[in-house]
Amino acid sequence: MQTIIILDHGSQYTQLIARKIRELNVYCEIHPFNNPPAFDKDVVGVVLSGSPYSVRDNDAPQPDLWFKGKIPVLGICYGAQYMVNAFGGKVEQSNIREYGRAVLTSIDDTCKLMKGITLGSQVWASHGDTIESMPANYKIICSTATVKNAGYHIEGEDTYAIQFHPEVHHSVEGKQILQNFLVDVCGCKQDWTSDNFVTATVKDLKAKLGNDKVVLGLSGGVDSSVAAMLLNEAVGKNLNCIFVDNGLLRKNEFASVMESYKGMGLNVTGVDASQMFYAALEGLKDPEQKRKAIGKTFIEVFDRQATKIKDVKWLAQGTIYPDVIESCSVKGPSATIKSHHNVGGLPDYMKLQIVEPLRALFKDEVRRVGKVLGLKEELLSRHPFPGPGLAIRILSDVTQEKVRILQEVDSIFIEGLKREGLYNKVWQAGVMLLPVQSVGVMGDERTYENVVALRAVESVDGMTADWSHLPYDFLADMSNNIINNVKGVNRVCYDISSKPPATIEWE
Ligand code: XMP
Repeated sequence: MQTIIILDHGSQYTQLIARKIRELNVYCEIHPFNNPPAFDKDVVGVVLSGSPYSVRDNDAPQPDLWFKGKIPVLGICYGAQYMVNAFGGKVEQSNIREYGRAVLTSIDDTCKLMKGITLGSQVWASHGDTIESMPANYKIICSTATVKNAGYHIEGEDTYAIQFHPEVHHSVEGKQILQNFLVDVCGCKQDWTSDNFVTATVKDLKAKLGNDKVVLGLSGGVDSSVAAMLLNEAVGKNLNCIFVDNGLLRKNEFASVMESYKGMGLNVTGVDASQMFYAALEGLKDPEQKRKAIGKTFIEVFDRQATKIKDVKWLAQGTIYPDVIESCSVKGPSATIKSHHNVGGLPDYMKLQIVEPLRALFKDEVRRVGKVLGLKEELLSRHPFPGPGLAIRILSDVTQEKVRILQEVDSIFIEGLKREGLYNKVWQAGVMLLPVQSVGVMGDERTYENVVALRAVESVDGMTADWSHLPYDFLADMSNNIINNVKGVNRVCYDISSKPPATIEWE
């Protein structure tokens, strides 16, 4: 399969480059600049990403460009500046730091990369350095009012570079530039589609798994559900799914999701382990300790169930691409802020081989694959829900009573969003139960009850998020509904924090 390699120098936009390339139906992979893969014949081009570093920094990333001149290369921002600095040109700190919008004031329309790009097109730049002078065989292909060397082509090579970011939304014709690189320079056929992914993956899974038994933990979420459907196509009844009720799911979720899974023909066993989880969480207040206790209990329950399946050889996981990238971060920006236990949480003694059919996909691609496989809309369009469930939305210690209160509030909020046609407009919504009590008055009685905070965010991938501007009338309706119907709650707040600097969950 034709592959583009993206060498990551730590830019916040690297994943966005990959997503845009995938949207153009070309397969690509992100690799750290200092740990590139061996290039096989499938590699048809390389993209050099941006970076938070300046090429003039002592500890700046120094990729080995052995492939330059042999296969097509596109340098973006730092990537563009690096290829100038490393081969005899000059990159200096710019007098006019170019951040944000700029427009192209000249374009070389004979250049393959700039085909169809219009003069005056808006581009998005984010660099404090600029290319002052270039080696002799570097030819300018576009300029902005303040940056003469905004893009170049190295003559005699299929090497191109631009100092602005074609991958961001604000570069209006950025996608066209990427397409020009992929199709006109690299010769990509644009045949990486969800249908082809399903056909190829099912074929690979059949070859890899043969007649072996596979066990998979289902969570009710999109990722594990889509992984299950792919494996079901490949190995049918040899796939054994386990769905654990950890007592931290949404109201009625266990029963309704079990029902859906059975309707999809999956071989699934439901295990009610709520009491084990509550016992493991008893008295724990620290968020990370809570996560660890839940992770450990999950593995105990799952393991006990999995060992009942005779001769099982494989453990399937719904790991997706951002998990893989995050867990092998360069010294770049994606430091671990919370310990997500989705990756690598398997104890040695299970001795199972791992199969991860979605390992190469971004979340939106998983949804598209789910659609091709006929996954029900209600599962497909579900908001993400954290593995540790309501436990990390109950601040401080978790009790069964607090879970009950939160389930009731959450259900009113989520059902309200659905009723008002807002559910699919927000990326994720939920409610936090705060470890705070406040004074209220109901009838003639003074109350002293719990406070809840509603949270709804807009996002693409959860890495950054903005709070959703839900209508005031809707929020007012939710507040009334919650306080009147859920005993134990007398105050409702709405969280208006973006990520960063806040996170989506409160713990
Ligand atoms: P944060 O709170 O880090 O969340 O902004 C980003 C996304 O990750 C989800 N999340 C988790 N998912 N295990 C999970 O499986 C976890 O421990 C966990 N913590 C946060 C969160 O719901 C959001 O979608």
